[in-house]
Amino acid sequence: MLVEMVEDCNMGKKIQDSKNVPFQREIPSAVLLIAVVLMNLLLYLYLDHFYMPVHHSGVDPSLCPFGYFRLGEMKNCSPWLSCEALKTEVRKLKLVGEGAVKKVFLSEWRERKVAVSQLTGPEVKEDFLHGADMLKSLQSQYVITLLGYCEEQFTILTEYHPLGSLRNLEKTLDLAKYQSLNTWHHRFMLAIDYVSIIHYLHNSPLGTLVMCDSSDLNKVLSQYLLTSDFHVVANDLDALPQVNRSSGKLVKCGHRELRGEFVAPEQLWPFGEEVPFEDDLMPPYDEKTDIWKIPDVSDFLLGHVEGSDIVRFHLFDIHVACKRRTPGERPSARVVLDTYQKILISLKETVMPGTREML
Ligand SMILES: Nc1ncnc2c1ncn2[C@@H]1O[C@H](COP(=O)(O)OP(=O)(O)OP(=O)(O)O)[C@@H](O)[C@H]1O
Ligand SMILES: *[C@@H]1O[C@H](CO)[C@@H](O)[C@H](O)[C@H]1NC(C)=O
Repeated sequence: MLVEMVEDCNMGKKIQDSKNVPFQREIPSAVLLIAVVLMNLLLYLYLDHFYMPVHHSGVDPSLCPFGYFRLGEMKNCSPWLSCEALKTEVRKLKLVGEGAVKKVFLSEWRERKVAVSQLTGPEVKEDFLHGADMLKSLQSQYVITLLGYCEEQFTILTEYHPLGSLRNLEKTLDLAKYQSLNTWHHRFMLAIDYVSIIHYLHNSPLGTLVMCDSSDLNKVLSQYLLTSDFHVVANDLDALPQVNRSSGKLVKCGHRELRGEFVAPEQLWPFGEEVPFEDDLMPPYDEKTDIWKIPDVSDFLLGHVEGSDIVRFHLFDIHVACKRRTPGERPSARVVLDTYQKILISLKETVMPGTREML
């Protein structure tokens, strides 16, 4: 994807370079001015056309205004379904997933497969509504497409992704149908997608958001879905508290003690075994907890195929930086993403088809 963008940039430059060449001297300056304006307009339209994100086979929700969605080959944006439409137009087919907050049903709407999520119990109402609000506000290529919701019924309608969550990745890639995608290249692209989502959440329209539903690897993986065209989208946005550096606002992921190597060190109880955990005494932290977890998630996504270890070798330094114990010394998601993309480009250059043996 990045390489394509680089190529597009060059194309843009070529157009700009040739902009003034055919017009010189013999043409009056007013005509020249109009020509330049027209050229710029054309250039704009051209770039606008080609710069459309090609993520998710054109199902980029950002192409619809707020409150609307477009699915698959749908021509027009449709307004989010209301309580009434959800009741009459959507048919639940079967339970496909269940977490602490939501039961997820494969369902049908106008001959399309969709996902209905419903509250599991009243004690998690707050999380459910927070998740729904986040889904509404964060519609973009990084987040699952919202199709409708009914707050009174605690129901959300989203796009259905048959490949399920990233937890299923190995199983999916083992299927004959997806064998051809089980390469370091495709798997590294998933890692880049993942870091792109973290970057988006850390720089979202709602400010810096921390992906708190992430106390172990499987938990993280279950928050993201694999789309049929092999991209990643964030699905579960129930626990996304905001950090605000300028007002000094930090977060805590839940009220209970976190343990283990997976969570960032600042998420662990700092006062030792002798002092019993007390939420009020637990110091808050920032979005760098997400950066700490990137190496583990990427490691899983890269898996063990030909070339995975070459990618790991190139990621070594940035991953060491992600694992710095002092949160402030860890790189931002932007830096991690840029580094990943540079490594992808350099690997694509050195590992072109004919030279694959070099791996
Ligand atoms: N749109 C979808 N398409 C396909 N599968 C889905 C979809 N939404 C959810 N699932 C499946 O259902 C599981 C549970 O969904 P989700 O994470 O939204 O529930 P939750 O209750 O919020 O989970 P948690 O316990 O992490 O809070 C997902 O991990 C995934 O496997
Ligand atoms: C962060 O806090 C500042 C100061 O309180 C406030 O003006 C700003 O709007 C906040 N940012 C976000 C994204 O909420």
